[in-house]
Amino acid sequence: MSKVRKAVIPAAGYGTRFLPISKAVPKEMLPLVDKPVIQYVVEEAVASGITDILIVISRSKRAIEEHFHPAFDLETELEAKGRADDLAQLRQMQSMARIHFIWQPKMGGLGDAILYARDHVGDEPFAVLLGDTVVTTEDSSRPVTRQLADVVEKHGGSAVALQEVPLEKVSRYGILGGTEIAPGLIRADQFIEKPKPEATPSRLAVSARYVLSPAIFAHLEKTPKGKGGELQLTDAMASLMQEEALHGLRYEGQRHDIGNKLDFIKANVHFGLQHPEIGAALREHLAQLH
Ligand code: G1P
Repeated sequence: MSKVRKAVIPAAGYGTRFLPISKAVPKEMLPLVDKPVIQYVVEEAVASGITDILIVISRSKRAIEEHFHPAFDLETELEAKGRADDLAQLRQMQSMARIHFIWQPKMGGLGDAILYARDHVGDEPFAVLLGDTVVTTEDSSRPVTRQLADVVEKHGGSAVALQEVPLEKVSRYGILGGTEIAPGLIRADQFIEKPKPEATPSRLAVSARYVLSPAIFAHLEKTPKGKGGELQLTDAMASLMQEEALHGLRYEGQRHDIGNKLDFIKANVHFGLQHPEIGAALREHLAQLH
């Protein structure tokens, strides 16, 4: 079974849950303390053994490209000012992985965004990390993308990260049904995008991370538009599941979906409290709030 070396990060969506800021500022570029959200996502991919990343962008998302490209004028300035630490940090960020960009010209859904990665990915399994969601695990040396890659490298097929959600929230997620074959590992037999609570196969929701078989592309091509009139990755995966194994992995950890306002603020508090420079002062400030 080939190693998972490539990742696709879809980051083309409008971000309508976060207007007006998301009109001209990509939601993926919003800061969690001092780093944009997408940098945490790229760091997770790199810590999972990924060496090649394709980011799918669209109009008004060019700041993402600038963030990962070298800025020689800025480097010269930092050098001249003796800011060695800042310079080292920038250079490290720019050389973490080979990062490429592709445009999704029209919003056609997550499945459509992934189809744009077809030529780049070729014929090997690849990771998909949603660019607006940071996922942290108890053991930071085992990011969830690494755990999914291990499942696919062992069992073949595809794998998705799962978290249990309350019944009233199943209609916001892709929901997977199946049989638990090892603790936390589910062999899927149903996969439904945003089911109604009365028709859901379970409360196990797909949580922004996937490792997919390259066979997904052929299924995306023949999958009709689904929920919201968009090409849904979930629908194509349900079709692929008839031919190849799909596993779901329940992981211990936290999902920070920064595409909505409340979770964005909560995520900033979470990462702020852990930040070496501001953590202690923030804790003190929060304790004083009523
Ligand atoms: C997408 C997927 C859905 C998944 C969710 C969170 O939905 O279509 O299956 O559960 O991300 O990872 P969206 O949040 O874009 O509506």
